Amino acid sequence: MITIGGSKQTKTNILRDKIFSANLITEDIIWLADYIGNTKGEEKLKDDIQYDYKWGNYLKVPVLEQSNWVYECEVTRILELDGSHLFLADIKNIQIDKSFEGIDLKMIDLKMLNPAIYAPYNYFSIGDRIGGCGEWKNHLKN
Ligand SMILES: Cc1cc2nc3c(=O)[nH]c(=O)nc-3n(C[C@H](O)[C@H](O)[C@H](O)COP(=O)(O)O)c2cc1C
Repeated sequence: MITIGGSKQTKTNILRDKIFSANLITEDIIWLADYIGNTKGEEKLKDDIQYDYKWGNYLKVPVLEQSNWVYECEVTRILELDGSHLFLADIKNIQIDKSFEGIDLKMIDLKMLNPAIYAPYNYFSIGDRIGGCGEWKNHLKN
């Protein structure tokens, strides 16, 4: 799901086509994401810096070449909220970079993926693995 507030080119495009891509942002492309996220598509093309995109394998959605993990999504429901739109979507295809082929999907190593974390209005990198899901008995006394 994504929520888009106010008037944005991205929102206009999604309302029109009912499809979008979600591209994982890693530390190495954080400033590219920062540029895209801080410039308005309604005002001008985002062509001040060089970057590449291609079309999705399953849906005709633009996909950032440099992203290692991409979801191609088809909107299933749109909820109009107070000043924003919430889009629920089915993931129709996942593109994972060759360097992560064979990754264990039951233990996705986020440290290896190195996602950038956004918490308004700063970017952080991922910290250490804390432990496994369901291991509470190893950590709590009754
Ligand atoms: C890290 C980051 C995260 C953002 N997340 C959202 C979001 O979840 N929803 C939203 O409406 N805008 C979000 N924005 C703001 C939009 O990216 C920004 O308004 C941008 O100009 C929209 O591009 P567009 O005009 O091409 O649609 C975010 C911006 C940044 C930098």
